[in-house]
Amino acid sequence: MINVSVLGYGTVGSGVVEILRENADLIAKRAGEPIQVRSVLDLRDFPGDPVQDIIVHDFEQVRSDEKIDIVVETMGGVHPAYEFVKAALESGKSVCTSNKALVAEYGPELLQTAQEKNVNFLFEASVGGGIPIIRPLKISLAPDEILEISGILNGTTNYILTEMTQNGSDFDSVLKDAQEKGYAEKDPTADVEGYDACRKIAILTSLAYGKQLDFEEIYTEGITKITDRDIAYAKKLGAKVKIFGSSKKTGDRVSAMVAPKLIFPSHPLYSVDGVFNAILVKGNMVGDVMFYGQGAGKLATASAVVSDIIDEAKHVNVNMKTLWDAEKLSLTPLDEVVSKFFVRIKGGKEAAEKAFGAITPVDAGYPDEFAFVTEAVTEGAFAEAAQSLEVINRIRIDG
Ligand code: HSE
Repeated sequence: MINVSVLGYGTVGSGVVEILRENADLIAKRAGEPIQVRSVLDLRDFPGDPVQDIIVHDFEQVRSDEKIDIVVETMGGVHPAYEFVKAALESGKSVCTSNKALVAEYGPELLQTAQEKNVNFLFEASVGGGIPIIRPLKISLAPDEILEISGILNGTTNYILTEMTQNGSDFDSVLKDAQEKGYAEKDPTADVEGYDACRKIAILTSLAYGKQLDFEEIYTEGITKITDRDIAYAKKLGAKVKIFGSSKKTGDRVSAMVAPKLIFPSHPLYSVDGVFNAILVKGNMVGDVMFYGQGAGKLATASAVVSDIIDEAKHVNVNMKTLWDAEKLSLTPLDEVVSKFFVRIKGGKEAAEKAFGAITPVDAGYPDEFAFVTEAVTEGAFAEAAQSLEVINRIRIDG
């Protein structure tokens, strides 16, 4: 019997308990022995809930319980999640978590502690919700050098951009509607400004290259400046606007970015719409592989957490080494990253050509502005050329 304690009985934590109960028999077969929830840590009580008798309010009751083999952290936030996870690992318990903020900030340290204590620290649910991506990146793609990761890593923003594209609505009204339907948080900042996707691409890139990429180092741009006019131009170009978390290896150097991009129907992620997430990984041997599914939601995310519980149950007293050192991964400076840009300006063709040379005009029927696509330029050269123009908006083009 493997005993589990769940820290935080919110959406994901209660989903973990539900899956362990609903699928108990098949999970026991796959794990090699039954898995039982021994305690649930939460500030609240849950009268009438199946966990009402195993609720504890003090983490010390979890840490000091020698019968607990695995601690499941589904509290969210960095503190006190970090302190609890660290203490659980130091007490010789394996930990799995859905907490991307915790993993992005403390991943290498917690992996090191797990290794020293011969236990495991797993975090499949921290990126892409129910989509298996961490384990494939660590294990299935281990033979490959990773050349590129491109992900639609945030369901809220993908839903908003999809609605704007399909209904021609503006950002503010789609966001309001998404909040009313419960698809977007009351405070949507972390999603719409790209901070959520930033932590996710930081985790994936760190795992791909085995070194710590600090999320603060990643250039991050959200979708709040995308307007219905941008979407109309995208349609005119036969493209869609999607926000990507991406990283790319060129020679010895790695670049990373979170930003809205225009993509065309030939792009593998073109038809990933609504709240769905997808991640495209290019390996130097395997080629392109793509992972698609629900990036959020109670049971999808909890399913990924339970996959870690099963893995840990199968590896008692065996540390599964994860290559993610504390050594920093240094990025190609943003100024040197190359893209084509779609640009809207106040002004006309001559001004655009004077600044950028060869351009391709785009007409979506707005006489009060001029829009065009540049040739491939570095970010630095783009910024310099754009200085002479009154830029309304610009969106990078992928492909
Ligand atoms: N807020 C996130 C999203 C949920 O919209 O994708 C999971 O990180």
